Amino acid sequence: MRYTYFKGNCAGRGMSLERNRIHLGDALCLLEGVADDSVDLIVCDGPYDVTQNAWDQIANIQEFNLELIRCFASKLKAGGSLYLFGKPNCIDFIDYRPYLTLKSKIVWYQPSRLAQGRVNYTNNYDIICYFVKGPKPNRYNLDAIRVAQLVELEHRRRCERVPSVKNGKFGKTKFNGKGKNPGDVWGDIKQLTYKSKELVSREALNTIQKPLKLIERLVLASSNPGDLVLDPFAGVGTCPVACKQLGRDFIAFEINPEFVDLANSRLRRVEQQLSLGI
Ligand SMILES: C[S@@+](CC[C@H](N)C(=O)[O-])C[C@H]1O[C@@H](n2cnc3c(N)ncnc32)[C@H](O)[C@@H]1O
Repeated sequence: MRYTYFKGNCAGRGMSLERNRIHLGDALCLLEGVADDSVDLIVCDGPYDVTQNAWDQIANIQEFNLELIRCFASKLKAGGSLYLFGKPNCIDFIDYRPYLTLKSKIVWYQPSRLAQGRVNYTNNYDIICYFVKGPKPNRYNLDAIRVAQLVELEHRRRCERVPSVKNGKFGKTKFNGKGKNPGDVWGDIKQLTYKSKELVSREALNTIQKPLKLIERLVLASSNPGDLVLDPFAGVGTCPVACKQLGRDFIAFEINPEFVDLANSRLRRVEQQLSLGI
C-alpha cells in the first residue's frame, strides 16, 4: 500500500516539547509542539520512497517534501538551515521558493553500492538539499568542516593562480593549511554496512542509519554550541547523538518505539563517555 501523507488529529497541538528528548510519534503532528521561529537547524532524513518499509511508501515524494519544507520554514529562525535527504528527484518540479532558499544540492556519493542496474545507470548517490530561511545563513562554520587538501606541492603551486569561478578573471587562490571546503560532492564518508562498528542493528541498516560523521558535518557547519537542532525522523538517533557530543540542544521525533529505545541507549552511552571525559 502506498501512503498519501495525512495530517490527522495531532496530540502535539498546543504543547511545548521538551528539549534533548526523542519524542515518540508522528513528525508532522509533533512539529506543532515546536515554537515558530525557534529552530537553528533541521536535519531531515525522512522517507525517500525507495525501501519496502511501510513508512517509506509515499504516493508523491516531491509533494510530501514540499509539505515538509512549508512546515519547517515556519519553525526555523531567520537564517536557519534545513538539510533534506532524498534521492536525486526528491525536489523535482516543486516550488519551494516561497518558503526557503536552496543554497546547494550536496551529492553524497557512494561508489560501492552492491545493486547494479541492468537497464539504466546505477544510482550511486543521495542528495542532501541544503536550504536556508532567507537569503543568507546565520551559521556557516567552514573552519569546523574543512577536509584534507590532497594535492602535491607542485600542483598546489600551479593552482594558486586560477580563474575565479564567478568572473573568469585570474586571482590568487590561497592554499589553506587547515584544509579545504568539502565542496558539494561528498565521497569521503562511506555508507554503513553490516560490518560497520557503529551500526546499531541490522534493521537500522534497512531504514538507513546514517554515519555519525555525515551528520556531524551538517551539525558543525550549520549550528553553534547551545543552538537548537530539530530531527523530525530520528531513526536510531544519529543526529541526537551528534548534538549531544557537540553541545547542541535537540528536539527529535521517531514513530517506531524500538528505534526510540535504541536511540536512547546510544544517548546514555554518550552521556557516560562524556561524564568520564572520553
Ligand atoms: C531514514 S530513517 C532515519 C535514520 C536516522 N537518520 C539514523 O541515522 O538513524 C527515517 C526514520 O523515520 C521514521 N519515520 C517515518 N515516518 C515517520 C513519521 N511520520 N513520523 C516520525 N518518524 C517517522 C522511520 O521509523 C525511520 O526510523
